[in-house]
This record gives sequence, C-alpha cells and structure tokens, in this order.
Amino acid sequence: MSKLIENGSRPNQLMLLENFLSIDEVGKFQKILLSDMEWSEQTKYYPDARKHYTLKNDWGNPDLINLDKIMKDRLHPLLESFYSELLFIPKNLSYNRWMIGDSMGCHNDSGHPDGELIIEKRGNESPPVPISEHLNEIASVVYLTDEFDGGEIFFTNFNYSIKPSKGSVISFPANHFFSHGVNELISGERLTVTIFWPGVKSVALSLMSSVYGDWWQRVSNPETIYKVLPKECIPKIDSKILP
Ligand SMILES: [Fe+2]
Repeated sequence: MSKLIENGSRPNQLMLLENFLSIDEVGKFQKILLSDMEWSEQTKYYPDARKHYTLKNDWGNPDLINLDKIMKDRLHPLLESFYSELLFIPKNLSYNRWMIGDSMGCHNDSGHPDGELIIEKRGNESPPVPISEHLNEIASVVYLTDEFDGGEIFFTNFNYSIKPSKGSVISFPANHFFSHGVNELISGERLTVTIFWPGVKSVALSLMSSVYGDWWQRVSNPETIYKVLPKECIPKIDSKILP
C-alpha cells in the first residue's frame, strides 16, 4: 500500500528515494524494532519538542548492524553525488518511534540556527565550542512504517509536508532553511531511522579550536572555513575525504 502524500512543491534539495528498502528488508527491521527492544521517552531535545521515543540499546544487534551497512553501501554514494558534497559516514543511526498523540516541534539538524556559526561557553572551556555537538551537513530519514495517519514531516520555510511510503528515504540539508517538525500522530505507529551525515567543512570546523585559540573570531561565517583552515589540520583529516 503506497502512502506517499505530498503537500506543496517539493524543495529541490530534498531527495526522495522510494523503495530504497525492499518489502523484505522493511519487514525484517520492523520485526526487530517492535519486538524485544527497549525505547526511551524523549521530550526535551528542542524548546517546543513534544514526545516521541528513541531506541535504548541499539548496539550489538547483528540485524541492526546490517541496516547500518545498507546505509553506508547504498545511501552514502547516492547522497554524495546528489549533493556534490563529500560526507563522512556517521558512527550511529538513530531509531525513532511515534505513537498516537506524539509529535516533534520545529527544529533544524545542525548547529547554525540562523545561518550563522553559533558558539557558546561551557563551564570554563576556552575557546567556546560550537553550540551543536553534531555539525551535520545532511539528514536522512528512512521510513519503516506508513500505516499511520498524521505524522507528516513538515518544512516551514517551504510550506511543504510529506508522508513517504515505507521503504522510502528522504534526505535534506541539515541547515536552518530546512527547519522541520513532525505533525501529531492520529493513528498507527510511525517508525523511522535517522542518519546525520557530517561534511568535510563541519569536520574542519571542529578541528579549528585545537589550532587557533581565537578561531571563532576568524570564522564569522562557516563558509569561510576553507580560507582559514591551517595546514596543520590537513594530516588530521582522512585524505580520502579531502576535496
Ligand atoms: Fe530533525
């Protein structure tokens, strides 16, 4: 049963892949995640976040490691070519579950809420660190269910929402232009896997503080990172991800 419903015009940078997972794969991962696994309630990620659940122990399950491999082998190359961006392969996937009444408030998936690099001081740390611990370039959401009402992912800046069919994956930039949330679930269960892909620029940015004490003054805009990236950083970056 296809449940692909789109509202508004799809933004160019939102990549939708239907049938990314086969019916067998969807069934297998659904079964694992909805059987013995323990889920924790999440309520405070974002200021207006509302309830949903994340998986407690996602380590060590060989079948989930298999899903990991699918993302690395199948999705990663497609993303790099679609976005013309070199992306790191993230260490962890995040498993999310919404039940009736659950939703998620509007947020973006990187540390640049207004398009500027935001820094903060934590305790006595100097220099201040980026406000986000995950400077992501691209976010991907894989759908493992579609037998639910409500639960559309919406993008406020584009007046666009979508409810892809199970087995689909959507990917979009993690920046503030793609601020998004999830509408309240009316019926059924929404099960997704989220992957955040850090880009080369993000990684370079995270290395700056170890080289320049005043790096945050040098980088008023993340786009200038290549101009100020010191040579000392280069050996620390895996050569295969360099442009
Ligand atoms: Fe998100």
